[in-house]
Amino acid sequence: MGSYQNTNYDPEETAGLLSSPGPEQRKARRNLILVFLGAVFISLIAIGVIAVWTEVSYGLPTKRNVILMISDGFGPASETFARDYYQYVNDLPYNYVTPLDKILVGSSRTRSSNSLVTDSAAVNPEGSPCGTILEAAKEIGMVTGLVVTSRITHATPASFSAHVVSRNLEYNIATQQIGDYPLGRNVDLMFGGGRCYFLPNSSEGSCRPDTRDVLSEAKKLGFHYLSTREEFDKLETNSQR
Ligand SMILES: *[C@@H]1O[C@H](CO)[C@@H](O)[C@H](O)[C@H]1NC(C)=O
Repeated sequence: MGSYQNTNYDPEETAGLLSSPGPEQRKARRNLILVFLGAVFISLIAIGVIAVWTEVSYGLPTKRNVILMISDGFGPASETFARDYYQYVNDLPYNYVTPLDKILVGSSRTRSSNSLVTDSAAVNPEGSPCGTILEAAKEIGMVTGLVVTSRITHATPASFSAHVVSRNLEYNIATQQIGDYPLGRNVDLMFGGGRCYFLPNSSEGSCRPDTRDVLSEAKKLGFHYLSTREEFDKLETNSQR
């Protein structure tokens, strides 16, 4: 997609592409965002309270974990294609449904205010940060994680863990993800690619424009860093690491 190649972010160009809303519109938009964030926040707190109340009152186990799976750039046509193919090669009945068919609860239209291709920005057209689900989860004391098959600094994980004006600012996204961020650390666990954005520009293979050694910074902030399958397999389950 176009924006994947567009690595030169030009603030003036972006400003020109944006419609310039009047003060009234800006105010209305800000209010709308605040109301939305408030609603998300209150819902999460309500879920937390109900969960604890149910457990305390009835001794019932409650659902405490939320896993949000996002098939990025994957729509109904992709699912139909996969289903038909899987059904055909495995000689399955005509009414076969995939595991994903059973758990799908919705789809969403994503785009930017100035582009059909969505951004990772998590900022509004004025460049102000928009609250994220992970920030709300942290606020109620949950442990959070991002697990991706792409770069961890890519658009979708970034929209949960950073606030930048362009998805292409992956070196900024990397530093925010480790907790260099006004709200501090919001992600406790990250699995994904994109190591080059965490290496200082003096290292071979770095894609940072500066000398920051983000991996070392992350370790100082309490992250443990694993880079091989062997290290991963040695991880103890239920350990605090
Ligand atoms: C690394 O980044 C610094 C700061 O931007 C710059 O002065 C330096 O020339 C860069 N070094 C390399 C090897 O690119």
